[in-house]
Amino acid sequence: MKIAVNTGGGDAPGLNAVLRALTLGAESRGLEAWGIRHGYRGLLEPEEEGLVRLDRAAVRGIAHLGGTILGSTNRGDPFAWPVLRGGALTPVDRGTEVAERLAAQGFEALVVLGGDGSLRIAQKLLGRGVPRVIGVPKTIDNDLPGTDRCFGFSTAVSTAVEALDRLHTTAQAHDRVMVAEVMGRDAGFIALHAGVAGGADVILIPELPFDLERVAEKILARERAGRRFSIVVAAEGASARGGSSSVLAPADAFREHVRLGGVGALVAQQLERLTGKEARSLVLGHLLRGGSPVAEDRVLAQRLGAAAARFLAGTTASGLVAVRGGEVVFAPLECVLAPPRRVSLEDDLITTARDLGICFGDEERPAP
Ligand code: F6P
Repeated sequence: MKIAVNTGGGDAPGLNAVLRALTLGAESRGLEAWGIRHGYRGLLEPEEEGLVRLDRAAVRGIAHLGGTILGSTNRGDPFAWPVLRGGALTPVDRGTEVAERLAAQGFEALVVLGGDGSLRIAQKLLGRGVPRVIGVPKTIDNDLPGTDRCFGFSTAVSTAVEALDRLHTTAQAHDRVMVAEVMGRDAGFIALHAGVAGGADVILIPELPFDLERVAEKILARERAGRRFSIVVAAEGASARGGSSSVLAPADAFREHVRLGGVGALVAQQLERLTGKEARSLVLGHLLRGGSPVAEDRVLAQRLGAAAARFLAGTTASGLVAVRGGEVVFAPLECVLAPPRRVSLEDDLITTARDLGICFGDEERPAP
């Protein structure tokens, strides 16, 4: 059986580790794996990109590398393919063409390493004649429905924690408030986990709209206790109560989601006014997507990749290789159509954070 693999959409550390495990697992089961370059571009514009044979030699020594050996794009939706017409980019539906080109080359299954956008596209391709799709959950945001975990998340959290450790020393030296903005879209998983691990004093997440007066109270209480600096972690999708998220660019015909960003700067500016303390902000942004996957992501990615090969060889179904309760399971692909996951307010980590005295800027007071 010939299978095609695609790593389109925002990258996440661990993509190469999945490719390695999938390729080795496929090879040992007699499956022939091919990688599509740059999302679907390798199929739709093969003269520019094309396909890469994924065999043992092609994936040798790549598990520890960030990025993806296949390349990616965030403008690669075959149902809204950017085509230059009359001097402007126009979205063109080339979904059926993807199915036809896969069939013409003898591919019997498509494996998509993707977040919600890429996997919804893959699900739609089933309706256009792609015979089988296997999804592998990828996103640093960890918000994909249907799975408890996505590869890339642990690395993003570790990178954010390293940044927070560094911010502590400069914040302390200058008695400043430092606000670090982290990715995560409408979910606060990265902010919550990094904030707890990195000893933040304040964590702002989209699931708990904040009131900066409360945050200022927390910072001033620390000041009175002799702690003259504070570290704030703000998820990019966090917003003030009654307000909305900070948007850098709107969604468009080629981009399903708005581009979030700017909340960290706003929070720092207002905290300066409310506390009289110097505040600075920084956006960790794409640093969280870059670099080598941490060990946990290398393990998870290879478990998922190997499981994808097993499901390909052992079943005839489409599905999502998901993590549930610590186990890797084969879930129905339709799971990815549910709304993105968000931090549950019942999450033990929220309670733990409050017990540690971390302020979320909401109604509930942190422990003294
Ligand atoms: O979904 C992953 C993610 O990294 C989000 O956290 C972030 O909002 C978005 O992608 C950024 O995408 P881009 O690479 O298009 O800037």
